[in-house]
Amino acid sequence: MLYNFILILIFINYTYGYSIAVIGSTGNLGKYVISELCKNNMKIKILNRHNNSSNIINNYKRFKNIEIINGNINDLNSIVKLLTNTDTCISLQGSNRKSKLFDIIRYNNDLSHPIYVNYIGIRNIIEAAKITNTKHIIRITGNGENPWSLTSIIINLLGSMSKAWNYAGECELRESNITYTIIRPGIMHHDIDLDFSLILRDNGNNIPIKKISYYNIAKLCIYSITHPNVKNTTLTAMTTDVGLGKSSWLPLLRNVNKDNKNFPNKIITILNHYISVYFISFILLSIFIIILNNIINYIKYII
Ligand SMILES: NC(=O)c1ccc[n+]([C@@H]2O[C@H](COP(=O)([O-])OP(=O)(O)OC[C@H]3O[C@@H](n4cnc5c(N)ncnc54)[C@H](OP(=O)(O)O)[C@@H]3O)[C@@H](O)[C@H]2O)c1
Repeated sequence: MLYNFILILIFINYTYGYSIAVIGSTGNLGKYVISELCKNNMKIKILNRHNNSSNIINNYKRFKNIEIINGNINDLNSIVKLLTNTDTCISLQGSNRKSKLFDIIRYNNDLSHPIYVNYIGIRNIIEAAKITNTKHIIRITGNGENPWSLTSIIINLLGSMSKAWNYAGECELRESNITYTIIRPGIMHHDIDLDFSLILRDNGNNIPIKKISYYNIAKLCIYSITHPNVKNTTLTAMTTDVGLGKSSWLPLLRNVNKDNKNFPNKIITILNHYISVYFISFILLSIFIIILNNIINYIKYII
């Protein structure tokens, strides 16, 4: 009932007035978000990377309510074009770049690196939003507050320090003076979540990592467009054991408050992300060298 009311509010605003901009519409989560917005025939503007005329984009071309803007998160002009006449931007883009050995020395200006997609990209969105008067940015990240957690180290080690730069992007949003909603989901999947399993924490508070469906995170993005409680919040969205949570976000959103804690300092946190990864890499390399040395000595011994 309330969900329908919220949808009607969004529908009136975005059918006759502003559009909603979506960045990352071709991704797993993006497809669910676009589907939810299209169900209500809302006006949407999506960013399409120049080199990408994928099946998904070709499919989107069939919808009259979707306007496609060619560009890239690293190209400020295209973001300004995207955000013109929109009052909400849903930022779902993420870097899938795998770590490379030469990263130790330099990123070689690789625009697919998380520093560009998750950090400088967010700075571009904020700058464009100030130019176009876009009022609200909804951003999907992950918990990057604890650089020494095993999850952070593994994701950073394999995924080009994406946790570090996602956190830096969050900090930019919190300092931007533009209304933001940051959503930190658990491990997203395509299945349906079990009933009475959804949980939500404000202030970026930690919840043990569990799965959460793309569908429910997409729904949380839709609620975030108009729900009064989500302004300037950092929300952790996850599932828990059946019976301990809710079946919809609405009762959980009632208890959500604006960010009011001191989030960890941006530069110190990024430094810690790098130190933890270099430290663990050093340990792993040392163990590898010791094992290799022992194997070589053994081979020499038996020869
Ligand atoms: N999957 C999870 O379990 C999980 C958990 C926590 C947080 N997250 C975060 O949630 C977000 C969405 O996840 P997902 O699974 O939907 O990711 P995904 O399937 O990998 O989609 C990534 C999206 O980002 C776009 N993108 C990448 N680089 C871009 C650039 N330079 N300019 C514009 N767009 C760019 C991609 O567009 P193209 O089609 O053009 O490549 C794609 O639409 C990501 O930010 C991710 O880090 C994911």
